[in-house]
Amino acid sequence: MLIHSASQLLTLKGGPQRGAALGTLGLIENGAVVVRDEKIVAVGTTAELKNAYPDEPTLDAGHCVLMPGFVDPHTHLIWAGDRADEFEMKMSGVPYLDILAAGGGIISTVRATRKASMETLIAQTRPRLLRMFSHGTTTAEAKTGYGLQTSTELRLLKALLALDDESPLDLAITFLGAHAIAPEYKDNPQGYTDEVVNTMLPMLKEWWETHAPRLPLPFVDVFCEHKAFTLEQSRQILTKAGSLGFPLKIHADEFENLGGASLAAELGAASADHLVRTSDADIQALAKSDTVAVALPCTPFGLAERDYTPANKILAAGGMLALATDCNPGTSWNESMQFAIALACRYMRLTPAQAIAAATINSAHAIRRSDLIGSIEVGKQADMLILSVQDYRQVGYRYGTNLVKQVIKRGQVYSVDVGYYRTA
Ligand code: NIG
Ligand code: FE
Repeated sequence: MLIHSASQLLTLKGGPQRGAALGTLGLIENGAVVVRDEKIVAVGTTAELKNAYPDEPTLDAGHCVLMPGFVDPHTHLIWAGDRADEFEMKMSGVPYLDILAAGGGIISTVRATRKASMETLIAQTRPRLLRMFSHGTTTAEAKTGYGLQTSTELRLLKALLALDDESPLDLAITFLGAHAIAPEYKDNPQGYTDEVVNTMLPMLKEWWETHAPRLPLPFVDVFCEHKAFTLEQSRQILTKAGSLGFPLKIHADEFENLGGASLAAELGAASADHLVRTSDADIQALAKSDTVAVALPCTPFGLAERDYTPANKILAAGGMLALATDCNPGTSWNESMQFAIALACRYMRLTPAQAIAAATINSAHAIRRSDLIGSIEVGKQADMLILSVQDYRQVGYRYGTNLVKQVIKRGQVYSVDVGYYRTA
C-alpha cells in the first residue's frame, strides 16, 4: 500500500531525542510511505514513491498530516469501578494523599478490583483501550497495581494479556504490585515491601515464564512517595526486580521529592515518571543516564494542581523527555495523548513539535521499543496516523476533540473519523 499526498509527513527519524534536539520532526512535504505486511518499506515524497511503486494500491492522505502512532508509556489501564465521589471531595478541598491515608484513593479502587471477575475487568477496560486507539495511541504501557495481593495481581496480568491479544493496540505490561501499601499491611509497610520482594517478584517471574514465554519480561514499577513506598523500600523492590532480570520503572516526585529519579538513573531504569517535585540534582542524574523522564501533565490537571513537570530544566540539562496520559481512576481518567500534548504545550511550555516527539519516539524509548515503533522509518512497524489537519501545529493548539481520521496499525487501516450518517 502506498499512502501518498500527505501535506506533511512527520518521520521523527533518527532515534530518541535528547535535550535541545527534542522536536526534530524530519518533516517531508507532500510525503508518502509504502507499507507491506506490517512494515514500512519506503519513505519519501509522493513524486518519488509514485515513480518507484507505480502498481502499489493507494491510500490518499491529501490535506492531512501523516505521523507515527502515539505511544502512551504510562497508564493504569485496568481497574474496576470509578471514583466520581472522591473527585467531588477533592474539588471541595480534601487533599488526594489524605483520602489515600483514610483508606480511600487507590485503596478504594483496590477493593472494587479485588471483587471483580476477569470478565468484568476485561469488559470495563476494553472501552478505555478502544478510546485510546481511536485517539491515536497505537501502543500503550499498562500497569497492574489495583490488586496488591498475588491472586488479584495475577488476574490483572492475565486480563491484560487477553486484552493485548484481542485488540489492535499493542500493550507493554508493567507489574505495579508496589502501587500502595496493601490494606492488610496498613500499619506495617515494611512487611508489605518484604512480601513484594520475597514472594511476589519471584512468583511473577515464574508465572510469566509459564504464561507468556514468548513475550519479553514485564516492567516492574514502584510508587516512591510519602504514604506509599520510601526511597529505601523502592530501592529494595527495584534492586530485587533488576536481579531477576525485569526492566524497571518508577513513580517519582509526584507530590514530594524523595530522590526516586536518581535511584532510577542509578539502577538503569527505562523511565522515571511524574517528576513534578524533582530536584536539580535528580534532573542532572537523569540527564546523564538513559532513563527517560516521563511527564504526565493530565495528572496535575486532573487534581487541579498548579505545578507541572519542569520540562525546560530537564531539556536544558540534556535529558530525554516523554509524555503519557497516566490514565487511571483517581488522578487522570483520560485516554487521549492529544490532550496530554495540549496540556504539555501550555503548562510545560513545549512547542507542538517538541510535544509530538515526546509522545512518539521518546515515549517509545520509555518502554524500550524505539527500535520498532515511534517513527516512520524503513524497517519499522507500520503504526501511523492520518490526521484531519494539514499542519502539525494544529496538534496541541486544538484540544477536546479528536484530530485522528485514520489509524494504521501493523499496516491495517482503521477509520476513526466516520462523521455522522443519517440512517434512512
Ligand atoms: O500515577 N501515583 C500513583 N498512581 C496513580 C494514581 C492512582 C490512583 O489514584 O488510583 C498516578 O497518579
Ligand atoms: Fe501512575
